[in-house]
Amino acid sequence: MHEPILFFSGKGGVGKTTTAAAHALAAADSGRRVLLVSTDPAHNLGDAFSQPLGGQPTRVAPNLDAIEIDPDAECARYIEQVKQNIRATVRSTMIEEAERQIDMAGRAPGAYEAALFDRMVGILLDEAHPGEAKGYDQVVFDTAPTGHTIRLLTLPELMGAWVDGLLRQRTEHNRERSQWLGDGEVPEDPLYDLLSERRRRIAAVRDLMLDPAMTAFVFVLTPEHLPVEETRRALADLDSHQLRVGALVINKVLPEEADGTFVAQRRAAEAEHLAAIERHFAERRRYYVPLRAADVRDLDDLRAIAGHLRD
Ligand SMILES: Nc1ncnc2c1ncn2[C@@H]1O[C@H](COP(=O)(O)OP(=O)(O)OP(=O)(O)O)[C@@H](O)[C@H]1O
Ligand SMILES: [Mg+2]
Repeated sequence: MHEPILFFSGKGGVGKTTTAAAHALAAADSGRRVLLVSTDPAHNLGDAFSQPLGGQPTRVAPNLDAIEIDPDAECARYIEQVKQNIRATVRSTMIEEAERQIDMAGRAPGAYEAALFDRMVGILLDEAHPGEAKGYDQVVFDTAPTGHTIRLLTLPELMGAWVDGLLRQRTEHNRERSQWLGDGEVPEDPLYDLLSERRRRIAAVRDLMLDPAMTAFVFVLTPEHLPVEETRRALADLDSHQLRVGALVINKVLPEEADGTFVAQRRAAEAEHLAAIERHFAERRRYYVPLRAADVRDLDDLRAIAGHLRD
């Protein structure tokens, strides 16, 4: 898992945060500069490192920084930024109404994702510089449960199409305006410039995410029926968006040494799911992480987990 950008995703509770943190810590231990980013609104990355995290990088171990994106704060910041842009472009008599509309849009479905996505774009394009000399060697995203993540990851396409539509409207509008004015000159249009810039950034992130040398997805699942089925669907979805899955992590596998009648029964059930995993995901790189007797609490626990994520 050497790509400069990694996304850990999977169903709720399978161990995304644990394995993302374990991998990031091991990479940092080996001397790489790593940024670990939680995009799950229900954060627990801070718990994994027993320290509070925020929207800016906090050092959690040598070579390792971590961020928890707060979508509410990002949403508020996003709205404020849109308002500022509008103030520069809308006639003063209309500002109040425009701002009212923006506040309403900020509570609409999708605004939350858009704000989260904008922050991810900012981290990737402006702050982390993944894989570049001046930046982090690796940026590891710990994402929210599957459905949400895939929606977020397809946003560059959705938002790209949306911005394209707006750009076409502006072009048409500007053309008509210049015809009306009769001078044939294309007027200055700050809104057009803003949209073009947004389009450029979305395209840049899309290129990063679609470049198999830059980005890989790590899918985490447990050897149980529903996670296996959900993973099959999610992988088909990622494939259909040409997003590359670098590896699967099969977590909480009953260890050899576990014994007792109950465990023997579980193991029999598990064997079926492990066989299904080998059947369905034969051509994927797979890492198996054993179920531990105790919860994962400190850095040494994370390092023990990371021991199973090595090539
Ligand atoms: N291999 C393991 N052995 C024992 N416990 C584990 C293992 N992996 C994870 N856990 C525990 O399972 C719980 C869920 O793990 P984690 O928080 O990493 O999952 P998640 O996929 O990030 O969950 P969510 O979808 O809620 O974000 C945690 O209490 C964690 O300590
Ligand atoms: Mg988590």
